[in-house]
Amino acid sequence: MHEDVVDVKGARVEGKIALVTGAASGIGLACARLMREEGARVILADVQDGLGRQAAQALSNDESEVFYLPLDVSREDHWMQAVQEVRKRFGRLDILVNNAGMGIGGPVADLALEDWRRQQSVNLDGVFLGIKHSLPLIREGGGGSIVNVSSVTAKVGSSVFVSYSAAKGGVRSLTKAVAKQCAALGDGVRVNAVLPGVIDTPIFSRLEGVSGDAVDARATAARLAPLGRVGQPEDVAYGVLYLASDEARYVTGIDLIIDGGLVIR
Ligand code: NAI
Repeated sequence: MHEDVVDVKGARVEGKIALVTGAASGIGLACARLMREEGARVILADVQDGLGRQAAQALSNDESEVFYLPLDVSREDHWMQAVQEVRKRFGRLDILVNNAGMGIGGPVADLALEDWRRQQSVNLDGVFLGIKHSLPLIREGGGGSIVNVSSVTAKVGSSVFVSYSAAKGGVRSLTKAVAKQCAALGDGVRVNAVLPGVIDTPIFSRLEGVSGDAVDARATAARLAPLGRVGQPEDVAYGVLYLASDEARYVTGIDLIIDGGLVIR
């Protein structure tokens, strides 16, 4: 962890219950770890059950503080069960981080409809379903914070990841629409998006339809980002933590871009 960035560990989300999807790896894992360090009780959800369980146990052996929940975000029945489980264990939910995602690249003219749909299903349907099924429980507790992990591709597009860019654009718009709806209802729920640039995580070893330079995150980011390096998962997690905490109580519907200056224009 980057103790040199923030050297005073505190209680920025003390007492809150947080659910993080895609938490077995990369950005989601960094978010879960940071929120635990800052006092939250955390539910890690993922489809990689072995890794997820291991990650949860590494954060705490006490299941009343941290536990792993198998959850395919693209499945509505999984979401219904997941929220029921959170309700049973904690009786409330304060923070939802919709982070799970995957990437398929390649030329749009060659893109199979099935692959297009798989992208939308995990990256966009997954966020919609998370919001839909978590909102009632968050509202029962008097409000909370939803953070959706989009991407800078939502703003500028990616020539390599076309369907991914479209899905992440959807996440960004959905965030703003739901933020307005919640604000209009006065339900105490804030909804924001984080747009990472190139972050050094295992996602690059899992990408489909691309090869070579396109997956060399370090080289690409070092070449393109004004700050001259690839981002680390913790760089994104600090932004998610801010939006999740009460420090951001007057912040809703925003894009928080964390990209080393990649899309400055
Ligand atoms: P990662 O591959 O390390 O982590 C993604 C996690 O999501 C994995 O643990 C994976 O098992 C899980 N996942 C995939 N499909 C799932 C499903 N259907 N249900 C539940 N979990 C599922 O990748 P990373 O980089 O940490 O990605 C996290 C988020 O950040 C993703 O939404 C990604 O699109 C986004 N992002 C990442 C960037 C990067 O450069 N690494 C840049 C911009 C956005």
